[in-house]
Amino acid sequence: MTADKSQLYRELAEQLGALLAGEPDRIANAANMAALLYHGLPNLNWAGFYFRHGGELVLGPFQGKPACVRIPLGKGVCGTAAAKAATVLVPDVHQFPGHIACDPVSRSELVVPLIEAREVSGVLDLDSPLLGRFDEIDQAGCEQLVALFVEHHHR
Ligand code: SME
Repeated sequence: MTADKSQLYRELAEQLGALLAGEPDRIANAANMAALLYHGLPNLNWAGFYFRHGGELVLGPFQGKPACVRIPLGKGVCGTAAAKAATVLVPDVHQFPGHIACDPVSRSELVVPLIEAREVSGVLDLDSPLLGRFDEIDQAGCEQLVALFVEHHHR
């Protein structure tokens, strides 16, 4: 299972590399990455981006149900990951004080910050209807995918 999951992330990294190759448009690439993850990772009900504009996060490309558009830094799981500039893995969103319930079906969440030139430029947010859906392999895998995305646009 573990080996399969690591293998899945290696395949996703390869596919993301192919999708990004030669394309500089950040919005187009974020849209394709959201679609890749939403359809490539099992048991998700939302996958997408928020980008930082000053003191808040603003909704970017995603797959899933319509979501809250603006999240202040420090609020919810996304705003916490952005404020800390660190990944936040929440096994049970009902136990996370201040969790913002965009879709009541969400039970667990993984948020990885996009860090460019030492500044948080946004976050990648994954939501699952399953309790405890994300583990350290998901965290490492998603951090690597986000690093690919950030490096591609920073070259
Ligand atoms: N649950 C997130 C809000 C974003 S939606 O899940 C898409 C949070 O608490 O930051």
